[in-house]
Parts: sequence; C-alpha cells; structure tokens
Amino acid sequence: MSAEPDFGNWLRLHRVAALLSSGLLLTIATLAVPAPWNWVVASAGLTIFVTGLFLVFVYYQFHDRGGAMQRKLWRLTLEHLHGYRQLTGDALDIGTGNGSLAVLSAMENPDLRVIGIDLWAPQWEYSLDDCRRNAQRAGVTRRCTFQRASAHALPYLDETFDYVMSHFVFHEVQAAPNKRTVVEEALRVLRKGGYFSFHDMFFDARLYGDASALLEALRALGVERVQLVETRQLTAASPLLRSKRILGNCAIVWGKK
Ligand SMILES: C[S@@+](CC[C@H](N)C(=O)[O-])C[C@H]1O[C@@H](n2cnc3c(N)ncnc32)[C@H](O)[C@@H]1O
Repeated sequence: MSAEPDFGNWLRLHRVAALLSSGLLLTIATLAVPAPWNWVVASAGLTIFVTGLFLVFVYYQFHDRGGAMQRKLWRLTLEHLHGYRQLTGDALDIGTGNGSLAVLSAMENPDLRVIGIDLWAPQWEYSLDDCRRNAQRAGVTRRCTFQRASAHALPYLDETFDYVMSHFVFHEVQAAPNKRTVVEEALRVLRKGGYFSFHDMFFDARLYGDASALLEALRALGVERVQLVETRQLTAASPLLRSKRILGNCAIVWGKK
C-alpha cells in the first residue's frame, strides 16, 4: 500500500476560485467605471462573489479536514447495507466517481468483490484511472474492479449481485427523465434476498414524484423490504448544508429485495 486513497472533494476548488475572482473583478471594474446602470452590474458581481464564499464554506464542510461531510455521507450509505463489515459475495457501486464507495466497501469487507461503474463524463473530472489508483492505494485491486457503463442500462443479467449501492448519482442520469426507472434498473441486477442502499435527492418530486409513492412502487415490484430515511435526520450538518439545494431533499432508500 503506497498511499491513502484520494477521494478528493465534490466541489472543485478551481471552479470556486473562478467564481470568487470573477464576482470580485466584476464588482470592482463596474464601480471603477461610472455609468447609470453600474449598481445593477455591481450587485450581480457581488451576488456571484457571495455565492463563491458560500461554496468555499461548502467545500470546507465536505473536506476530510473540515466537516468531513463526504465521508459521513458515504459511511451512512454503506452502513445501511445489512451486515456491513461482514459482507460476502458480489457488490455493485453505481456511479462510482473516483471509486469512493467501491474502494471503501472492499477495504472494510475482506470477503467482498466489488464492481464500480460510471460513465466518467468530462464534467465530473473523475476517471477510470482515478478509480484504479485508489483501489491500488487501498490494496484491493484484486477484489475491486471498474467498468464504463450507464446506470440507466446496466450491462449485467438480472439478479447478478448480492449488494447494490449508489451515492448521489441517480439524479444525474440524463438518459432517464424519470429517475424511478434508474432505481428499478439498479434493483433488477440485485438478486432476490440481496441488499441495497441508495442515497439521492429522493424528496425532489420533479425527479421521483412523491417519495411514499416511490416506496409503494418498489414494493409492488416485489421488493421485500424498503425504507426511506431523511439524510438531515441522520447527520449533524450545519443548517446551511441542510437547505433544500444541498441535503434538504436527500434521503437513503435501503432494504432487501
Ligand atoms: C456526485 S458524483 C458521485 C460520485 C460518487 N458516487 C461519490 O459519491 O463520490 C455523480 C457521479 O455520477 C456519474 N454519472 C452521471 N451519469 C451517470 C450515468 N448515466 N451512469 C453512471 N454514472 C453516471 C458521474 O460521472 C459522477 O461520477
């Protein structure tokens, strides 16, 4: 094992810095050139700058040396898999990013084999190489592999996996306007009696419709046990992170097929 896996930060520091500096420059430049419409542009610049400041706060909250919120959320998702730390068999991590759930679950469950899938589209700045590097650093390359695939059409037979997990991905799946179909696709590849844990914006009705109707629909598909728990009830996050735009719409949907 050469170094710790590096799972980075969901917020890219260079993007936050670009927002801060453009807001500041716009405000200063506008105030320096007197014109009747100055206050409109200056307030827009100031708004951009304040948004940048808010994102610095969020970056710090996500970071391991700050609020460590990313790790806490990954942990919550993993620990909603029944028997976690003694999982055996095969697991799938849908939208693995840089391998976070896949690598952590392989590290913490010595008898588990995990596949992480992702599209690794450029806007996320994650890659297959990042995943492989993290698996190598964690010493789990033999049990943790990665494959390019889309969550809306998983390249696996029905009932392939003993566990299926996913963290903050389903709402991103462009090919599926109705995100319920992505949940159903994830459950398709889970064997009967297998366990699942999905974290996403399940309270955003534009994505999933009514949350309790979602659970009913999953039960109607034959899922033996399904529960939903609000993320903000599980974490001691700051009120700003609990806002609708960040964690306020989030929940873990978990259970047994
Ligand atoms: C917020 S990131 C989450 C990454 C990781 N699960 C985590 O918690 O750190 C969203 C991920 O979803 C992936 N993604 C977006 N659309 C996808 C799709 N159709 N199929 C698979 N992955 C997808 C993105 O590439 C990105 O890695």
